[in-house]
This record gives sequence, structure tokens and C-alpha cells, in this order.
Amino acid sequence: MADSDNGFDARALRQVLGAFVTGVTVITTLDAQGRPHGLTANSFSSVSLDPPLILWSQSLTAPSHPVFRAAERFVVNILADDQVEVSQRFARGGADKFSGCATRPGLGGVPLIEGCSAYLECRRMDSFPGGDHVVFLGQVDRIERSGRQPLVFGGGRYLVAQPHDMGAPAAGGANIARLQAVRLATRALVELSDELDETLGLGVWGNKGPTIVRWEEASQPVSDNLRTGLVLPVLASATGLAFAAWLPPETTAPFIEAELAQGGMAGATASSAGVTEQLDLIRTTGIVRLVGTDAFADLYGASISALSVPVFDPSGGMVLALTALGSTLRLDISEEGRLVKGLRECAATLSRRLGASAPPTSSTRTSQENPE
Ligand SMILES: Cc1cc2nc3c(=O)[nH]c(=O)nc-3n(C[C@H](O)[C@H](O)[C@H](O)COP(=O)(O)O)c2cc1C
Repeated sequence: MADSDNGFDARALRQVLGAFVTGVTVITTLDAQGRPHGLTANSFSSVSLDPPLILWSQSLTAPSHPVFRAAERFVVNILADDQVEVSQRFARGGADKFSGCATRPGLGGVPLIEGCSAYLECRRMDSFPGGDHVVFLGQVDRIERSGRQPLVFGGGRYLVAQPHDMGAPAAGGANIARLQAVRLATRALVELSDELDETLGLGVWGNKGPTIVRWEEASQPVSDNLRTGLVLPVLASATGLAFAAWLPPETTAPFIEAELAQGGMAGATASSAGVTEQLDLIRTTGIVRLVGTDAFADLYGASISALSVPVFDPSGGMVLALTALGSTLRLDISEEGRLVKGLRECAATLSRRLGASAPPTSSTRTSQENPE
């Protein structure tokens, strides 16, 4: 709903503020009876180094506000990236937030939550009105750092911190290039999955063949069994067929021969000539469409369809597969559909950002070492 005073609505403001990515803290304190209180807060910020001052702000309507307003001391527990559960626990109301949560007493007995990335033990210096919040200014008395990676919050979701691609060394071989590609593509995958509300996977060619290194799930999950590190067959999976179509034949041939010798999987092309024809078609269309395969009934429980598109590196080698997965009944595999368009555009953008000029055609495919 539009806010008549400001001309923008509260949701839009929240989204804009969410573009400023933060860490996540739990601020803890004790009440007059010595009972612990705590709330999740990402309004924490540094203020001054000398003297050491920090601030955070609390909603006037938070049930624990009277306690923080009266408290002399508080602790800023900076959460680690494996503490999403702690963040969620302290973002809920209720008196039992500390039950089952490992803590130890800090200055004045204020609890420090075990397993955090860092701690600032503070004395409340002042507080200031700030609209529907109160800003607390704290003087830092004691600090501690564990070396654990901090949890990150932005755009309304939990994130993990990774070094920026631009900061990484330029040289370093195929593995570093691929790592950078995975980082870049992971971010793109999150955005695309949010936009399309489809389950997407990121495949690399590992030492055991096509391997999914990231899943981004739609709001209606395809399966509970989407595992990172899942190794797929070459001929019966969209990801596998993408690698078979665009990696040098000598990389994929042993895998294809082994699968053909075993009679292949349900839904897979069973002859060498059939595979050649299928891969030619995939290269011509630039996309793998696998419709209604039952090959993964164990894994996904039902008949699924999948799409896969290639991402290329500067040498023209296929470095990643972007794959969409969904129940056969609802996955839109049509050329004009949002999904196919979104996947194609995403893969093309990623290839460009990785430095690839144009996708190679079948005749320009060159030999390249298996990167694993
Ligand atoms: C990531 C995240 C950040 C939050 N940041 C703040 C904040 O800075 N200030 C605030 O008052 N509430 C914040 N909240 C909401 C409180 O954690 C939530 O209202 C909590 O229930 C308040 O605790 P209480 O009910 O014990 O008072 C945040 C919640 C989340 C999930």
C-alpha cells in the first residue's frame, strides 16, 4: 500500500533497505532478576574506533524493549554462517529462547552465545529516539573473535560471504577459473530461481562425470533428495547430455561407452548412432530438453522433465551446465516460455562475464583436458 506522506510503500522501502547487505547479530542482556533476553538484530553498526563505540536499534514494539532500555550492559553476538537456526530462534518472541542454546557468562554475567564469529561486550552509553525504533549506543569493553565465517543477510534472505571474484588472482589454471565460474553462477542461479520460481541446479564435469554442485529450490520442491555432489548419468540426464554435447568427445566417451555397455538407463538413447544424432540436435538447438523421464524415479519420486544449457569459458570449453528440473506435468519447456528464455539468457550472460566470445559450434570444438 502506498504511503501518502512519502510516496513509496513500506514493502518497497524494505526491499531497498535489503539491498544493503549486513551481518546478523543476536544482542543479549540480563533483566533486573538476572534472566537472559536476546533478539536477532541486523541494525548493528560500528560508530567510533577511539573511543570504541557501536550502535544498534530496537523496535519500540519488541517485547524485550523495556529490558534493553533498562539494561546497563549488552553483548553483540555476531553469528557464524552455520547459525541460521540461532538467528531464527532469537527472531521469535517467547521466553524460552535460551533453552538448549549453549552460552557462557561474559562481563556482568551477560550471556555470550557459543559458536559465534565474534563478540562485543558493551556498556550502554546512551539511547536516542529513532521513529519507531530506539538507537542504542554502546561502549565496547571487551572483544573476541573465533575465526568462524560470519552469517550474512541481504534481500530478505540468509547468505554466505565469499571473496569477490574480481579480487581473485587472474592466473591459476582451470580449477580456479571453474571455481570463479561456480561463484558467479551461484549468484545468478539464486536470482533466476527467485524470478522464475523453478528448481535449478548447477552442474560441473567432475572426476565421476556430471556432478551437481548447487541446487536452488523452487517454493514447491521437486524432491527432498536434491543432494549437492549428486553424480548423474551422462545419457539419461539433461546435465549429462549437455556435457556430452559440448565437452570434447574424448572426455565423455569413456562414460558414454560404459553406459551403453550397461544397456543405458530408462529413457536414454541406447545406441552409439542414436547418441551421435541426439548430441547433434542438442548442439543445433543449444539446449537439452529431457521430457518425462522416469530414470530418476528413486530420486525424485515421479516423472520429471529437465532442461540444461551450457556455460562456456574463454577458451570455448563448456565449464558449467545450468539445469532446470520439474515435474513433467508442470515444467514449461517451450521455446517461448519464460524458463527456456531465462535459462538461455542467464547462460549467455555468464559465458560473456567469464570472457567467452561466442558459443562454439560442433565443428570448432577442441580437445581439452578433463579438469578433474
Ligand atoms: C535478520 C533479522 C534482523 C533483525 N533485526 C532487528 C533489529 O535490528 N531490530 C529489531 O528491533 N528487530 C530486529 N529483528 C526482529 C527481532 O529479532 C524480533 O522482533 C524479535 O522477536 C524481538 O525479540 P523479542 O520478541 O524477545 O523482543 C530482526 C529479525 C531478523 C530475522
